[in-house]
Amino acid sequence: MTFMSSPVEAADLVELKSVDRHFQLGDQTVKALDAVDLSISCGEYISVMGPSGSGKSTLLNILGLLDQPSRGEYILDGISTTTLKDKARAAYRQSEIGFVFQSYHLIPRMTARANMELPLMLAGISPKERAARIKPLMERLGIADRAEHLPKQLSGGQRQRVAIGRAIMMKPKLLLADEPTGNLDTASGTEVVKLLEELNREGITLIVVTHDLELGKRARRQIRMVDGRIAQDVLAGN
Ligand SMILES: Nc1ncnc2c1ncn2[C@@H]1O[C@H](COP(=O)(O)OP(=O)(O)OP(=O)(O)O)[C@@H](O)[C@H]1O
Ligand SMILES: [Mg+2]
Repeated sequence: MTFMSSPVEAADLVELKSVDRHFQLGDQTVKALDAVDLSISCGEYISVMGPSGSGKSTLLNILGLLDQPSRGEYILDGISTTTLKDKARAAYRQSEIGFVFQSYHLIPRMTARANMELPLMLAGISPKERAARIKPLMERLGIADRAEHLPKQLSGGQRQRVAIGRAIMMKPKLLLADEPTGNLDTASGTEVVKLLEELNREGITLIVVTHDLELGKRARRQIRMVDGRIAQDVLAGN
């Protein structure tokens, strides 16, 4: 393990500058994120660990443009996102970011195929092109024979693979996963992790929030959050 005093490479994907995310509850201010500085380069594999309530999901939601800082700046791929209008943010999120959640967040009434097709439809891609993109990806994810199944007809591992398919359909640069194996047994969890790591090796920047120490230790860069702050940021030795 080597402690990182400063980023080893120049950060070229993510730059958080003094980011706060405060929630006001009555007269109490919850500092979910407190003056967070973070630089991430293209292609990194990062795990985020830390106690419950330490701000891991809040950090991921901000990185994923699902939430906005109360203060500070977030630069993603050279663009300052803090001042983007809602529509522009949504479009930017669609093209740059894939998000995978613990509870899959699939649309229950839509088949596996339709769930994966959704981002392509939103992006206005033609039916022919959609079909051409979905088929090989389903095969790769090992769910081609489940294409017409509804989420409830799939196992947890299969659901998560559909969710990963949906997340990477638009070929985002950044893949964010919040407890992606949290609802899975060890075997399907391991499959999901291997899939995420394979995507990382192909170039996608991967950030995984996890309570699972074994899983967290697999990442090259390991961040530990405590009370809304980055308490530790280390590079694992090879
Ligand atoms: N919408 C909200 N309103 C008020 N407080 C919030 C809100 N979202 C999060 N918080 C608070 O912010 C803090 C950080 O929450 P967050 O969900 O980021 O934690 P976490 O590290 O992901 O925890 P866990 O491991 O349990 O998922 C917590 O104290 C939480 O109660
Ligand atoms: Mg969380």
